[in-house]
Amino acid sequence: MSRQLIAAGNWKMNTNYSEGIALAEQISKHSTDPKGLVILAPPFTSLQGVNEVIKDNNHVKLAAQNCHVKEKGAYTGEISIDMLIAVGVEYVIIGHSERREHNKESNELLAKKVDLVLSKGLIPIFCCGESLEIREAGTHIDFVANQLKESLFHLSSSDFAKLVIAYEPIWAIGTGVTASPEQAQDMHQSIRKLLADQYDEAIANGTSILYGGSVKPANAKEIFSKADVDGGLVGGASLKAGDFGDIIDSF
Ligand code: PGA
Repeated sequence: MSRQLIAAGNWKMNTNYSEGIALAEQISKHSTDPKGLVILAPPFTSLQGVNEVIKDNNHVKLAAQNCHVKEKGAYTGEISIDMLIAVGVEYVIIGHSERREHNKESNELLAKKVDLVLSKGLIPIFCCGESLEIREAGTHIDFVANQLKESLFHLSSSDFAKLVIAYEPIWAIGTGVTASPEQAQDMHQSIRKLLADQYDEAIANGTSILYGGSVKPANAKEIFSKADVDGGLVGGASLKAGDFGDIIDSF
């Protein structure tokens, strides 16, 4: 996938089926000619219904918030990649910090999930980002570099070129505290430099790198205006059609 502007809404464990359908309808109606791609990541139970709503809108794509690392079998309560494909999913969020924290997902496990998602022809939205402690210790650049190294740098150039990266500082997620546009730009620039060193300039300049963490209508325009920020992965503000619409319009 070549670099493009993306506004992705991560609904997390919010919205029941009918709320999700209503939200998707409003966002799809709003997104007739957006400047970037709109991606919706509803809960599993709404994926099929949301797909019905958006399937004729080329500007809006469907994402899952996670998938299991195994293709099938005795994993009670889990969702496989083929199940997601069957309901129209094209993107899968991999390595969100909430899953790293609550489900103890390691860089090593995430590397396997990325491989699985790519092998099935879907696009991983790979999340990285540091805690407040690491930010305050000043080691955030190295920390994020290591997350990418351990989960992504085994990929060939042609596979790497397909994925989307989301930088999400944990201290900014759901806290109302946003990284400043300069902090976001600094990290995105250093990620791009790392990609140039590891792969080449074409990969570095061709990868969409989203910012996530308390993106809202009031700050989206400034953050998205930064040279290395290609849009956002939005949690809370993606649950209100008006707010998410304003974020989509801030490209
Ligand atoms: P937030 O969440 O926008 O509510 O901070 C972002 C995310 O976790 O993807």
